[in-house]
Amino acid sequence: MIKIQEADKVFQTKNGAVHALDHVSLEVEKGDIFGVIGYSGAGKSTLIRLVNRLETPDTGKVFIDGVDLSALNEKELRKQRKEIGMVFQQFNLLENQTVFHNIAIPLLLEHSDKSVINKRVQELLSFVELENKSDVYVSQLSGGQKQRIGIARALATNPKILLCDEATSALDPKTTESILQLLQKINKELGITILLITHEMNVIKKICNKVAVMKEGKVIEQGETIKVFSKPQEAMTKDFVRTVINSEIPETIVEQIHPDAPVVKLTFFGENATQALVSKINKEFDVNTTILFASVNELQGTILGIIILQLQGEKAETDRAYSFLQTQDVEVERIVIAHD
Ligand SMILES: Nc1ncnc2c1ncn2[C@@H]1O[C@H](COP(=O)(O)OP(=O)(O)OP(=O)(O)O)[C@@H](O)[C@H]1O
Ligand SMILES: [Mg+2]
Repeated sequence: MIKIQEADKVFQTKNGAVHALDHVSLEVEKGDIFGVIGYSGAGKSTLIRLVNRLETPDTGKVFIDGVDLSALNEKELRKQRKEIGMVFQQFNLLENQTVFHNIAIPLLLEHSDKSVINKRVQELLSFVELENKSDVYVSQLSGGQKQRIGIARALATNPKILLCDEATSALDPKTTESILQLLQKINKELGITILLITHEMNVIKKICNKVAVMKEGKVIEQGETIKVFSKPQEAMTKDFVRTVINSEIPETIVEQIHPDAPVVKLTFFGENATQALVSKINKEFDVNTTILFASVNELQGTILGIIILQLQGEKAETDRAYSFLQTQDVEVERIVIAHD
C-alpha cells in the first residue's frame, strides 16, 4: 500500500549537511498498523512526510497503491492527499475556533454542502466519543480531547491511510492508552492503514503489528513486532525492547547461579508450553533445572513468554538437554552470566 524505496534525503544547514534519510526502504501493507521508532533526530518525521509529499526524497521513490508520488501533478496530488489523514503531536488545531469548525475544515476546503458537513462532523464526533462538544472552543478541551478532535479532522475526508507523528507523546499514560485504543478502532472498524512514528516502545507494543527501528537516518531493523520483540538483533533495538519487556535475571538470583552450569533463555509464542518442556527435561535427562526468571507478555493478543533456566548436571547430560531444547518449538539462546 505504501512503498518507500531507497529514499535518501540530505538537508543543507548552516552547520553542514544533515543526512536525514539514508537509503530507507520499507513497505506498509493494507491493514497494517506500522510503527517507526527511533530517538530524536533519527529521521522519523522526514520519513512520514514523504508519504504525503510534504517532503520529497533526493533519490529513491515513494509509491502509494503502486502510484509513484513524484509523477503526480498538483491536481493529482491534491486528490491523493485526500486519501491520507495526518495527526500531530501538538494537535495543530485552531484553538480559538469551535470543535465543529476544526473538524469541518477539510470539508470546507472541498466546498462540501452544509448539510453534508453537518452530518459528517456529527458522525465523526460520535466516532471519537465527543458528541456533545461540537460548540465548545478547542482551547477549553483537555489534551486527550484535543487529540480526539485532531483525529476526527484527519478522518473527515474518509482517508485510506492515517499518518500519526508522535500522536500520543504529549499525553499522560492513561490518555495515551485511550488514544491508542481509538487508533485500533480506526484500523479495525474503518479498515484504515496506519503509519505512526513514536519514540515510545509502549506504543509499538500495544498496537503495531509491524515495526521499523530508525537510527541516524537509517532503518536498522524491521519486521513483525512479535519477531522483533522476541529476537531483537541490533543493540539499539535491544535497548528499546528492554523498556517494555523485562528479561533480566534479578541481581540476588544472579549471585546464586552456579558458575559452571549453562544458563539458557527460552522464548516462546502462543501457548505456554514451557511447563511441559521443563518437566520433560527433568524426566528424560539427568539434569536439574532451576528457573531463574520467567515472564509472560501479551502483544496484541499473542503471548510472548520468556523463561531463563539453569541446567545443572554432568556436561554430557546438560549438552544433550540443550540439544533437545533446540529441536523444540521455542527460541533457545545460551546466556553468559558475568560474575564479578
Ligand atoms: N527542513 C529541514 N531543514 C534542515 N534540517 C532538517 C529539516 N528537517 C529535518 N532536519 C534534520 O534532519 C534530521 C532528522 O529530522 P526529523 O525531524 O526527521 O527527526 P525525528 O526522528 O522526527 O526527530 P524527533 O523525534 O525529534 O521529532 C534532524 O537532524 C533534523 O535537524
Ligand atoms: Mg519528529
